[in-house]
Amino acid sequence: MSDSSNPNSHKRPHALVFDSGVGGLSVMREIAVLLPHLRLTYAADNAGFPYGLKAERELVARVSAVVRALVESTTPDIVVIACNTASTTALDAVRQFLTIPVIGVVPAIKPAAAASRTRVIGLLGTRATVASSYTGALIDEFAVGCTVLTHGSPELVEAAERKMQGLPVDAAELAAVVGHLFDQPGGDRLDTVVLGCTHFPLLGAELAAAAPHPVAWMDSGSAIARRVSTILGPIDIHAADNGIPHRAIFTARVPAIERMSLGLTGFGLAEIDFLEI
Ligand code: DGL
Repeated sequence: MSDSSNPNSHKRPHALVFDSGVGGLSVMREIAVLLPHLRLTYAADNAGFPYGLKAERELVARVSAVVRALVESTTPDIVVIACNTASTTALDAVRQFLTIPVIGVVPAIKPAAAASRTRVIGLLGTRATVASSYTGALIDEFAVGCTVLTHGSPELVEAAERKMQGLPVDAAELAAVVGHLFDQPGGDRLDTVVLGCTHFPLLGAELAAAAPHPVAWMDSGSAIARRVSTILGPIDIHAADNGIPHRAIFTARVPAIERMSLGLTGFGLAEIDFLEI
């Protein structure tokens, strides 16, 4: 994105990665692996968390307002809505008022249906994502001939948040949630489960341990990273602003953020700011 003929614009491109909480970090880490020289701002709308229990109309209004404020304040080159709930409801609304590229994350139904041998796939997401008409349309279009078992779980979202705060994850609670998917008729033939909420890949090992039989778990993180790379094109690794650190922005000051600081540093986010919306 930088103009190499103009030394003043010799900057790294800058991506804003957005979610209601820590889930989008599962997408950001894939982006950081593929594009190590991209400048990243991670924004969590913890004041509006959780998104998965909100009604569609409320989500569109909240996501639009927060993304607008974040873009004005951070002036990124690209926005990644690293939240299935926000993307399946508010992506079109956000694209209407932004002139920069906006990438959304939607459940990986298409690759899961293509990979499944048993033709029984699962979808774990938030309640809003599992119930959304967008997700229904994805299933109708891309999972033809498959049985799709679904379950919406606010508990897994909370568990991922707790894990990021260094708090223990309750294995029995996870097993009960996973049971709601696998215990449905046909669940014994599940071979592929879509993690249709960006919080859930943060619990990858715990979910695998909780499943009654082994399955392939699929999320959209690496596909989103490839999309960002395609849109931005080659990144100048000698850019003058290489010293600017990645940073995290939260929309509410709460004690939990203090407990997350170690975890955030592990994702390369040593600096924490607030934009109270
Ligand atoms: N991480 C979000 C998603 O991908 C939602 C979590 C929430 O309920 O706020 O759907």
